[in-house]
Amino acid sequence: MLLGIESTAHTFGVGIVHRGKVLANEKSSYTTQEGGIIPWDAAQHHVDNCAEVAAAALAKAKVNPKELTGIAFSQGPGIGHSLRIGALAARCLARTLGIPLVGVNHCIAHLEIGKQLTGMADPVLLYVSGGNTQVIACDAGKYRIFGETLDIGIGNLLDAYARHLGLGFPGGPKIAALAASGKKFVALPYVVKGMDLSFGGLLTHMKRISGGEHAREDLCYSLQETVFAMCCEVSERAMAHAQKGELVLGGGVGCNTRLQEMCRVMCEDRGARAAWPANEFLVDNGAMIALLGEKMLAAGLSTPLEKSVILPYQRTDEVEVTW
Ligand code: ATP
Ligand code: FE2
Repeated sequence: MLLGIESTAHTFGVGIVHRGKVLANEKSSYTTQEGGIIPWDAAQHHVDNCAEVAAAALAKAKVNPKELTGIAFSQGPGIGHSLRIGALAARCLARTLGIPLVGVNHCIAHLEIGKQLTGMADPVLLYVSGGNTQVIACDAGKYRIFGETLDIGIGNLLDAYARHLGLGFPGGPKIAALAASGKKFVALPYVVKGMDLSFGGLLTHMKRISGGEHAREDLCYSLQETVFAMCCEVSERAMAHAQKGELVLGGGVGCNTRLQEMCRVMCEDRGARAAWPANEFLVDNGAMIALLGEKMLAAGLSTPLEKSVILPYQRTDEVEVTW
């Protein structure tokens, strides 16, 4: 019976799992009117809410803390201020209950929960969130990043553009709603460099052409078509290179139904399968941390207290995959 704590950025989440089944997945997210994140305020939000979220998860799962057999936490990558609160809560719980602690990689947790909940064996992960945009797959005993953003995350682009248009936060769903009534495709910079992506220049371009001759709906539609095509191109090439027949989505932008459709079409064309878990497991959540922690503990991996220091810059391929 594993309890997992997620606290890499906005979200403080607590999940409880038992033998690969999610019993609870509770969270509280820090938001600001303008979007964006003030690290110290996010950490304070996590301090203020951690006990309540953990209690809600235990109540939902109908689990007594004494029944827990391990505590998993997001060790990295992420914002140091936020990570530290989750790590502190996890250490306290593990020490108090006298059970093992296991630090997990946040990006790999997105992949593992997608794999688990969609029944995939060995997928490529398209991980698209506010802060991250990566294409990850397992190769020679490690999860490797085949391609990633060279600057901002795709969700960051959507949120910043939505803020520019005065649409509020989070921007992804607001852009998606406008895009649904867009008709005319406006050609935009399409920036794939080798296997990597770049969104920073595109954001500047979008701000420049907004308020001009094009309707907002058309701009949002064209933006989605362009950035999602970039992601699909890199994912498809990773699948071809690594010889994988499955694609799973992770991260908040993975909730976008147009992106899901484009991934499905791309995979169908190459005789592959695309799938994704429910939205609550795409966004940052505690269940994915608990699930990966459970797999790691079962494989004999745990994190002694002195090695439980947060790893804000941990890279996906630093982790040996022995589970
Ligand atoms: P990470 O720490 O992994 O970078 P995060 O803090 O950005 O994660 P997530 O919940 O994974 O959190 O993702 C949030 C992002 O998802 C926001 O940028 C938001 O605009 C975007 N998003 C949410 N729903 C949609 C949607 N339907 N379409 C597009 N983007 C969406
Ligand atoms: Fe995430």
